[in-house]
Amino acid sequence: MSGFSINWLDLREPADMAARDKTLVTQVIQYLQSDADISPVIVDLGSGTGSTLRALTSLGAHQCVWRLVDHDPALLNEALRRHGQQEIIEDYEADLLEIDTLPLGAATLLSASALYDLVSREVVDGLVERLARQSIAFYAALNYDGRTDWTPPHPVDTDVLRAFNQDQQRDKGMGPALGPESTAYLTRVLEGAGYTVQTADSAWQLGPDHAALVADLIRGIRAAVSDNYGLDRQALDDWERFRLSHVHDGHCVIGHLDVLAFPGKTSR
Ligand SMILES: C[S@@+](CC[C@H](N)C(=O)[O-])C[C@H]1O[C@@H](n2cnc3c(N)ncnc32)[C@H](O)[C@@H]1O
Repeated sequence: MSGFSINWLDLREPADMAARDKTLVTQVIQYLQSDADISPVIVDLGSGTGSTLRALTSLGAHQCVWRLVDHDPALLNEALRRHGQQEIIEDYEADLLEIDTLPLGAATLLSASALYDLVSREVVDGLVERLARQSIAFYAALNYDGRTDWTPPHPVDTDVLRAFNQDQQRDKGMGPALGPESTAYLTRVLEGAGYTVQTADSAWQLGPDHAALVADLIRGIRAAVSDNYGLDRQALDDWERFRLSHVHDGHCVIGHLDVLAFPGKTSR
């Protein structure tokens, strides 16, 4: 799949941080800190530069062992550069598709952010099977849910969104992607494996303060829907121009959902 740049991950992180559901984060931290005698082991899948680590530590997770797993060594190196002095980090350059080899030994929690809309059903099936075997808790923030609401509106918003959501399910290197279905699928599989699952809204609320992120988003959406979906090129040009002209005075809501699941029918 195409890589994720440090710049792009940095650009989205403030919006991610604001959007994460804090009630779920509080529960995650309580779970991690519930036994003072052990250092919880968190395996963060698709860790990038460590956004989940930053979110959880800034909100109170401490004395954790962080196993950061990513296939991009540049992102892992950046995570180590930023946090290697303050946190216990074990970095794993690994392909998450090789589920049986993921470093889940003695793990307390499998975490991720902005990941599960990219993966396939088979990946979720395989991961949850491994988690359930070891009773590992699960936290996945910021799964895109298919909502994108623009203000002010444009006549082809609906057509663009329909095409974009279709494109979100394209195979991006990890099988046909779950895209907007990821939270529903995770919930079904986790509950089927005996987990207690909670979901919460974590929509991005983007305004003039996020102009650079919104401009990148508009260009990314335009690129994603340009071919294959039968949209009129001139209408798309007009949509892109209109959207870019409103990044400093418009508003955009991008829907995400967070998922938290504890093994067994009740949380500890
Ligand atoms: C959307 S980014 C999210 C990064 C980070 N969690 C964050 O929220 O900033 C997806 C991450 O998954 C990683 N990734 C994608 N495919 C992967 C694979 N097959 N194996 C391991 N990591 C992968 C990417 O390198 C990237 O860091």
